[in-house]
Amino acid sequence: MKNFTWGVATSSYQIEGAVSEGGRSPSIWDTYCQVPGAIVNGDNGDIACDHYHRYNEDLDLIKWLGVDAYRFSIAWSRILPDGVGRVNKEGIDFYNRLIDGALARGIQPWITMYHWDLPQILQDRGGWCNRESVDWFTEYADVLSQNFGDRVTNWITFNEPLCIAWIGNLWGGMAPGIRDLNTAVKVAHHILLAHGKSVPIIRRNVKLAKVGITLNITPSSTLTENPEDLLAVALNDSWDHEWFLDPLFAKEYPKKMVDRIPFELPIHLGDFDIIATPIDFLGINYYFRQTIAADPEISPVPVKDVKRIGVPRTAMGWEIHPPTFTKLLININQKYKPKEIFITENGSAWNDLIIDEKIKDSERIEYLQSHLDAILDAKSKGVPINGYFAWSLLDNFEWAYGYEKRFGLFYVDYQTQKRTPKESAFYYRDLILNRTTR
Ligand code: NOJ
Repeated sequence: MKNFTWGVATSSYQIEGAVSEGGRSPSIWDTYCQVPGAIVNGDNGDIACDHYHRYNEDLDLIKWLGVDAYRFSIAWSRILPDGVGRVNKEGIDFYNRLIDGALARGIQPWITMYHWDLPQILQDRGGWCNRESVDWFTEYADVLSQNFGDRVTNWITFNEPLCIAWIGNLWGGMAPGIRDLNTAVKVAHHILLAHGKSVPIIRRNVKLAKVGITLNITPSSTLTENPEDLLAVALNDSWDHEWFLDPLFAKEYPKKMVDRIPFELPIHLGDFDIIATPIDFLGINYYFRQTIAADPEISPVPVKDVKRIGVPRTAMGWEIHPPTFTKLLININQKYKPKEIFITENGSAWNDLIIDEKIKDSERIEYLQSHLDAILDAKSKGVPINGYFAWSLLDNFEWAYGYEKRFGLFYVDYQTQKRTPKESAFYYRDLILNRTTR
C-alpha cells in the first residue's frame, strides 16, 4: 500500500515512570492512583515501563518493527510543572532526545499533546471545568510547537475527549474521578474549544503542520429491533461520538442529546467557530462494539449494557467485531467528510504467557489481521484512511486496570523491565516489510 503510514502508539503516563524526576510535577493520575480501590491491585505509574530511562532501547524496538511512525504523548507537567508559565528545560530536553532519536532511526514522531495527564496544579484550579483551561492549553500548545515544531509535523491535540469528559468527570472511572454531569459537559466543551484554539497556534509555529484530534468511537448495537432499543442506540452513539464530531465538523451539539441535558450548555458566542477550525485529519481509535438496551431509569443516556452471549471477546471483555469498524469508518466519512483519517489506535489485550522466552499470542495476531482487513474494506470503498497505529508498543499501565491487562506487541516483565517481542510483533514486522518491498 503506497502512502500509508504504519505506526505504533504509546502514551506518557502509561510508560514513562520517573514521576518525580526531571522536574516533573504530579499529574491528576498520580493523585487518582492514590485513591483506595481506584486501580486494580493498587498499581500506579511511578515506574511503569521505565521508558523515561529506557527510551533509546524502546526506539530500537520501534526501529526493529520497521514502522514509519511513532505516536507518543507529552506529559504536560514535565514541560510546565506549574501548569503555565515557567518552562522546564529538563522536560523539553527529554522529548528532544526522544524526537531526535526517532528521526535518527528514520521514524516520524507523531505528538499527542494531551493523553489524560493534566498537571494536578491545574486540577486544583478546577481543571477542564474551568474555562481558563482553554488558555492554559493554548499556552502549552504554543510551548510545544515552538520547541518541537522544527522537527515534528504531525500533531494530535487531544486523545479521546470522551474518556476525559465522561469517564473522568461523569462516571468517575478515571482521573480526576468526578461524577457530575454539569462538570462533565463543561469539560467536554472546554476541551473542544482548547483544541480549536490551538490549531492555528500550531500552524503558526510549524511549517507544513498537520493537525488533528483523536476520538475513540465505540458504536452501539442491540439484541432486539424494538423501537425503544433502536432509540437507545441512536442516543448512545450520540453521546459516544456525535457529541464531539458534530461540533468539530458541523458547529453544533447533537440536538437529540442536548434535549436531555437539564441545564444550559456552557456555550459562548463564537465558540463553535473556534471548535470547528478545519483540521487536517481525524484520528480514530477503535477497539470494540457495545451492546446496549433501553433503560429509562438511567440519565442522561437512557441505556444499560447488556451481554451478548457466545461472541468472541478480548481479555478486557470487549467484543471482537471487525465489521463494526468498517461500517463506522464508512459512516463517519459519509457524514463528516474528514480530509484524511488515521487509525491512531487499535489493538487487544490478552492473558499473555511467556514460555521459553516466547509469547504465542495468536489471538492478538488474529485481531490485528481482521481489523486491518476491516480497514482495507473501508478504504476500498473510498474512505481516506492513510495510516494505522497499533496499540501498543509495550505492555503498560492500563489505567484503572493497572498492569493486569497487556496490550503490547512487546511483553514487559515489570520485575526486570525486560522487553520480549510477542509473535504479534513478528507478524506486524513482516506485514510492514512485505508492504515496503512489494
Ligand atoms: C485508548 C487509550 O487511548 C489508551 O490509553 C488505552 O490504553 C487503550 N485505549 C486501551 O484501553
